[in-house]
Amino acid sequence: MLLPSEAIHAREDSMQKYGFTISALVGLVALTGCSGTEDPGRTTNEATGPTYYKDIAPLVNAECASCHQEGAIGGFSLTDADVAAEMAPAMAAAVAARTMPPMPVNNDGSCNTFKNARWLSDEQIALFESWSRAGAPLGDPADAPPPPAHEVPTLSGDIVEFDIGVDYTPKPADDKPDDYRCFIIDPGIDADAFMTGYDIQPGDRKVVHHVVLFSLADANAEADAAAMDAAEDGPGYTCFGGSGVKGSSIIAAWAPGSGATFLPEGTGIRYGAGRKLVLQMHYNVPAMGGPFTDRSKVKLALAKDPALTPAFLVPTGAFELSLPPGQERTEAKGELPLSWVAQQFNLPSFNGLRVFGALPHMHMAGRTLRSVAKSPSGEQCITDVDRWDFHWQDLWWNETPLEVSADSSIGITCAYDTRGRTETTVFGEGTGDEMCINMLYATVY
Ligand code: HEC
Repeated sequence: MLLPSEAIHAREDSMQKYGFTISALVGLVALTGCSGTEDPGRTTNEATGPTYYKDIAPLVNAECASCHQEGAIGGFSLTDADVAAEMAPAMAAAVAARTMPPMPVNNDGSCNTFKNARWLSDEQIALFESWSRAGAPLGDPADAPPPPAHEVPTLSGDIVEFDIGVDYTPKPADDKPDDYRCFIIDPGIDADAFMTGYDIQPGDRKVVHHVVLFSLADANAEADAAAMDAAEDGPGYTCFGGSGVKGSSIIAAWAPGSGATFLPEGTGIRYGAGRKLVLQMHYNVPAMGGPFTDRSKVKLALAKDPALTPAFLVPTGAFELSLPPGQERTEAKGELPLSWVAQQFNLPSFNGLRVFGALPHMHMAGRTLRSVAKSPSGEQCITDVDRWDFHWQDLWWNETPLEVSADSSIGITCAYDTRGRTETTVFGEGTGDEMCINMLYATVY
């Protein structure tokens, strides 16, 4: 019995709803799991096929445990053999659909592979399937692998550390579970520097769903952010897709499962002395439990090494879109000459861009995004998002950097499902607006 993972995934944005679905799911599996199988002999070591301890546990430790162990975001612990056995059909379905481990970007090699990929091979997927079909035998505990390693990479160099400045209790509005809140931060960086890495540490992992850090380009941008903050009660201000401020750009992002991030060696993002930042928090508040209080922290690694090559987060995309409602699939397309992009975003003069990674971005109606570089010498795929999920936004780091010559244009195609809408969807930062952006982490050459 395979449970359609889509059905499980139809959870909208509610972790609470999700929590409910999972218990219902476990119940369902418990009710039906044994109906066709005599006695899977789960706790004996007679099984000849794959067993939990021998075959599944090492995979779980490597690919699932960072989120599916006690206290982590995944909600249930797959390092617990009995839980895993009950979840076996759901695990097999989720890995077959590649909804788990979560990675919205295709990593099969047809459009690059990524250093921080969460990606199972076809053989590993088949192993989950055959284990589940055999009745999820546990096998011999003596075969169990050592417990999952807890190596937490830490930043090195000059570290600047700050938090959101308050103990914040997220307050979702209108019966929705989400609170999107922006906090202005003065990290007190008093000399020009390069950011070479970051580590965003959520305060309460039960409510922090994702985090985006924006730099503010100048005093005007800072004044705009301050005005938005002043216009609302309580700490921070409401913001959704971006910071809500012109002249701000993304410099870091966190989603569950990301740890400390080291920017590609020899590169860094320039940080102007005295400038402020905006930290956008997406809170997803369970209806049960609480009240929840968060004080998320950020560490930035800074270097003053003038030999570093400055990197830029270059927004490429379709910046105007108009999506008719009621469509199962409707597209936005853009094609931007790289020279135009360079001028628009103040890049220094260049022969081309060396692309180290990309951060694709759409909102809730987004389904797929494909970004390609087109030059007289041919086409080069940059990013292929084949299962967009707003919750798993991240910067995906190319295994091998791409070189995109200055005479190229960047084409992008985003597809959306607007069946839930009654009005035209346009480009914007609101929850009901859409975007179609692939932010490239690049240096010029
Ligand atoms: C980066 C974090 C992360 C990793 C790694 C991860 N999961 Fe999940 N998983 C989640 C979260 C969070 C949920 C809750 C639903 C959601 O938000 O998508 C979930 C839900 C699930 C579900 C419930 C059904 C579903 O499809 O939503 C199953 C089954 C599952 N995970 C299996 C796995 C397996 C098996 C692995 C490893 C091969 C794995 N997960 C790796 C975070 C993760």
